[in-house]
Amino acid sequence: MALRTRPVKKVAPQAKKAMLPLVPKGWAMAGWALLPLRLFLGVTFTFAALQKIANPAFFDKSSSGGIYAQMLQADRHSPIAFLLSHLIDKSTIAGWGMALGELAVGIGFLLGLWGRIAAIGGMTIALSLFLAVSFHTNPYYLGSDIAFAFAFIPFVIAGTPVLSLDALISRRAAAAEGAGDPTFVPVSFGTIRSVCGKAGQPGMCAATNEACAPAGCPFLIDEHASVLARRYVNGEDRRKVILGSGVAAVTAVAAGVTAAVTAGVGRSGTPGTTTTSVTLSPGGHNANGTRIGLASQVPVGGSASFNLPNGNQGIVLQPVAGTFAAYDAACPHQGCPVSFVASQDLLVCPCHGSQFNPSTGAVEVGPAVSGLGVYPVTVVNGALYVKV
Ligand code: FES
Repeated sequence: MALRTRPVKKVAPQAKKAMLPLVPKGWAMAGWALLPLRLFLGVTFTFAALQKIANPAFFDKSSSGGIYAQMLQADRHSPIAFLLSHLIDKSTIAGWGMALGELAVGIGFLLGLWGRIAAIGGMTIALSLFLAVSFHTNPYYLGSDIAFAFAFIPFVIAGTPVLSLDALISRRAAAAEGAGDPTFVPVSFGTIRSVCGKAGQPGMCAATNEACAPAGCPFLIDEHASVLARRYVNGEDRRKVILGSGVAAVTAVAAGVTAAVTAGVGRSGTPGTTTTSVTLSPGGHNANGTRIGLASQVPVGGSASFNLPNGNQGIVLQPVAGTFAAYDAACPHQGCPVSFVASQDLLVCPCHGSQFNPSTGAVEVGPAVSGLGVYPVTVVNGALYVKV
C-alpha cells in the first residue's frame, strides 16, 4: 500500500462503510446519563431566578430578606468580604445580575443551548454563593451551594450533546457543509488499522509504539480533526457560531420578556413574602442592655430590624401591642437573615426555607437544626433595650 503524501479531504468510502455499523455511544451515552441532572439544574435555576424577579422584597434595601441584607450579613463572615464590600452599595444591580444569570443558566440547560458556557456560568454562581453565604456551614455537606458547584462540572466536560439545541445546530452546520453526522463514534482499532495509510508497512506507528501522526490518516487529518487539533476555523465551525448566536439572541429576547412579565406580575399582585420592616438605630447602653430604638417604631403585628454595635443583625417583633420578642436574625443554617412573614406568623429564612416560631425562635422547619439566638428585650420609658 502506497504511503499518502498529501492530506486527504474526505473519508474514504471503505472507511465510511466500516464506521456505519457502529452505534454512536460514548459522548451520547454521557449526555443521556446526565439528562436527569441537567433537567434538575435547569428547572431549579429557572425557578430560583423567577422567584427572585417576582419578589419586590428581594431588591428592597429595607427588607430583612432582601439581597442588601444578605450582602451585609455575608460581608461580616465571608472569605470574599473584600469583594462584597465594594458591591453592597450596588446590591440592586447585583441582585438583578444574579437573577438574570440564574435565568440564563436555567434556560441554557433546559434547551441545551451553549451547554458548556451555561455550565461554567452555573458553576461560577454556585461557587460565589458558597464563598459568600455557605462557606462556614458546619458540617460542610449541609450546604447546598458546594454540591451545585460540583454538579455543573460534568457539563463543563461533556456539554449537552443529546436532546439539545447544541446537537441540532451541530447537525445543521455539518449538513450544510456536506459533512457527516458530527456525533462522536467509537471506532475499533481494527477499523483504524484497515484504513491506515501505513497499515502493513514496517514503519506502522502501532508496530513501533509511536503515536499516530495525522498525516496520511483519514480520521485524524484536516477537516476531520477535532476542533482543538486544527489550527484554523472551517466553514462548519463558522456556521455553528452563527446559528448558535442567532438562536441565543432569540432565546435572550424571550427570556427578557419572561423576566419583565414576571417582575410586573410580582409587583402588581399580593405584597411580597416579607412584611415591610423599619430599621431601628441603636444608641446607648445601660443595665437593661443596648438601646435599639423606640417601641413605637415597631409596627403591631410586624417587625423591625436593627444592627448591634458588634455587627450582629437582629429582628424585633411586636405580635400584639406591648409584647416584644427579639432575635439574632442570622439563620443558624447558613447565616442568611430571616424575616417575619405576618400572614404565616413565622420567621422565614429566604435562602433555603427554614422556618422559626416567632414567640420562641425555635426551629419549626429545617434545614436549620437549631433555633434563632434569643435577645431578652425590655421596654423602658418607651425605648427598647436588648441584652446580647
Ligand atoms: S441559610 Fe439555609 S435555611 Fe437559612
